Parts: sequence; structure tokens; C-alpha cells
Amino acid sequence: MASKIDSSENEAERYSELFQGFSKLDREERFLRLQEMGALSPEDVRFLRAGAPVGLDLAEKFIENVLGFFQLPLGVATNFEIDGKPYVIPMAVEETSIIAAASKTAKWVREHGRIMTSMHGREIIGQIQIAKATDFQNVREAVKRNAAHWVEIANRDVASGLVRRGGGVKRMDVRQVERGDGGVMAVIHVFADPCDAMGANIINQVCEYLKLPIEAATGEKVTMCILSNLVDTRLTRARVEMVGLDDDLMERIEEASLFAQQDPYRAATNNKGVLNGIDPILIATGNDWRAVEAGVHAYATQTGQYRSITRWRREKNVLVGELEAPIVLGVVGGVTTLHPTAKMCLRMLKAGSAEELSRVCAAVGLVQNLGALRALTTVGIIEGHMKLHIKNLTLGAGAEEREIPYVQKRLEEILSLHKRISLSHAIEVLKELRAERARELP
Ligand code: MEV
Repeated sequence: MASKIDSSENEAERYSELFQGFSKLDREERFLRLQEMGALSPEDVRFLRAGAPVGLDLAEKFIENVLGFFQLPLGVATNFEIDGKPYVIPMAVEETSIIAAASKTAKWVREHGRIMTSMHGREIIGQIQIAKATDFQNVREAVKRNAAHWVEIANRDVASGLVRRGGGVKRMDVRQVERGDGGVMAVIHVFADPCDAMGANIINQVCEYLKLPIEAATGEKVTMCILSNLVDTRLTRARVEMVGLDDDLMERIEEASLFAQQDPYRAATNNKGVLNGIDPILIATGNDWRAVEAGVHAYATQTGQYRSITRWRREKNVLVGELEAPIVLGVVGGVTTLHPTAKMCLRMLKAGSAEELSRVCAAVGLVQNLGALRALTTVGIIEGHMKLHIKNLTLGAGAEEREIPYVQKRLEEILSLHKRISLSHAIEVLKELRAERARELP
């Protein structure tokens, strides 16, 4: 055990050294550092240098009416140490400053504390609906009488692969749901452990397979079979603890968290910021980000009001942050195993299981949230965001290579003076620069 701790400490130190000044490096130097960490192989680097090409026939396997691929920038967030293990976090995302904020905040957390994660429950949920239950009590008794047998045949005939890997269908239950017209629905839940898969296909197949036996045993008509994305039986938690922070800053963060707990308008934006950290990892690793989004937002309403999925509070001199949400992911099956970039990103992460990947996502989401709250309650979001955005505005205005440094510098000055910057500023500055140059010409 001691040697395991020693080796992850050494690994963490090595990563921390290799991440120093990472954002200032050019792409080739980044490749070298990531190779030194063992996060990229020489083959991965060749693939990335070539623009990560993916054949169109692969697109044909995924979707219909294919025209081509839509590419997103792929980067890595640095400085993450989660449960004592250092990570290179791949993120596919178009929004400026998400990766910079995640990396900067992760460094701040590493200097002042730690990130811990856990998973609670392993089961995903499938739903079998009887829309117009004529006798709910009868359905309840039939489920009670037959559940063990249905679990057994589902495991034997549909989920035997999962059973071999230690998972499979575990149990069944039934809920009564009001129709709103005086009648009731019977909704039978099937719970399964999907191991390292996200489990959508298998749970849907299990539910459809059980349709006929359920109809036979209940005398009712099954109307629909589909998984639920509100997976409150498989919750991922992350916790950040930090010491040595300014009292005033801790109070501001606690206040910002209260705002997001109490006001759904703020909660939506807060949770968007959390998902800024999570979605890019899901996309990079080929996971279904719509499923996670749906689950997270549904879980955010569990008290009857939409609230933040994160909480920050002071416990004496410790700033404590917590996130709890259903983040159901896979590291095998579907896009995760077919898309070469997703496969590379999963290797880069070195997350050995679906559970570990979910825990990493929870940690990054919580840290991303902390970065946003820190900025919002101190300098404001514009400063950091717009500084990076200046680069995009400069290019958007049509600046040529040799014009870029001047335009960027002028835009920074305008930003610090007016606290506001837009594409029209960039166009104006560029126009002035060109007019100036034209005057200087003989
Ligand atoms: C912007 O993409 C995300 C934020 O709005 C999140 C937040 O307000 O907490 C900055």
C-alpha cells in the first residue's frame, strides 16, 4: 500500500513539473510533454499532427444522411489531481477560456487542498410503462411475485455478457404515477449494473424483452419501454477542500453558492458553468452528453425547485465544495470504442473504468464551477474571458499575421479602459492601423 501511495505521489510530482508553463508552449512542445507523461504515444502525435483525420465511412456507421464531419477544437486541462492521482484531461469544446479556467483553478486547488470523489450506487434504470393500468394492486403483486424470475431470464437471455463481467439485471420495482385524468399508470423499473458500458442499449433490450412476460402476468398492456436518464441510483460525488484562503473570498464564494441554491435563474447559469467542465470530456471520450445533461438537470430539481448541483460553504477555515449528480458514462461500446479520437482521449485520461471517468467528470465540473464563482465574485467574468476572446476578435476582424500583436495590444487597452470590447472595436483598430501605415508609405 505504502509503495502505491509513494508511486502516485511521484507521478503527481512528475505531472506537476511537466505541466509547468504548459499553456505557453507551442503545440510540438506540448506533444513532447504529454509523451513524457505517457499520455500520448508517438502514433497519437502523428494522428494529431495530421489533424486527427477520421474516414467518412465511420460517420456512415454512426448516423444517417451523412455529409461530413464537424470538428471541434481538442485541448487538455492541466494540473488536475483527483483522489491523489494526476490526470491529463482531454476536452473538446469551442468556448474560449473553459480550459484555461479549469487548469488555473485546478492548480489553485492543488496548492491549497485536495479533490476527492466517490460513486454511490451502480444501477441504471429502465422503465416499462403500462399507461392505463386497470388494476394497479394486481400489477404490484405480479411484479412482487415474478421479479426474481424476470431478473433471472433477462440475465440469461439478454444480459449474460454483463453478468459474466460482474454486472447484469439486479432487481425490479413498480411505481404508481397519476395520469391527471383520475386514472393511474403503472411504471415498472428494472435496475441493472452496466459495468463499464453506459448501458442504454442493454437496458432498453431488457425492458423490451420483459414486455411479453409482464403482459402475460398482469393482464395489462405495456405501452412503452425505455431507460430513464434520471439515474438517482448511480450518483457521482466530488468534494473539494481548501485551506489558507482569504476569509473574504470564502464568504463571497459561499454567498454565490447560496444564490445558485435559492434562485433557479442563477442555478441554471451556475449549472451551465459546471457542465462547461463536464460536457467537453464527454464529447472528447465519445460519451452521450445529452443523456448526462438531461440527468443532471432533472436531478437538480429533486427538491421540487431547480437548484445548483454544487454547494460551497466555509467549515471554520476550510472552504468545502460538493457536487452530486448522475453522470452515467461508458468506456466501452459505441463511439467510445469506434472513434479513433475518443479512443485516444480515453487512453490519455488513463481512467480504467466507467466509474473512474464519471468521478473525473464530477471533479472537473466542481473545479470549473469554483473557477467561475471566484471570477464572478472578484474581477468579474469579462476580464479573463475577454482577454482570451481578444485573439478571436482580432482574427475575426481579418488581421494579418504581422498586424495581430498591435491589434491585440490595442484591444487590451480598450478593454481595461472601457471594460467592454467587441468585434467592431477590432475592426476599428485594424482600420486605424492600416490607415496609419498608408500615411507612412512614400
Ligand atoms: C459561462 O460559460 C459560464 C458561467 O456563466 C458560469 C457561471 O455563471 O457560474 C461563467
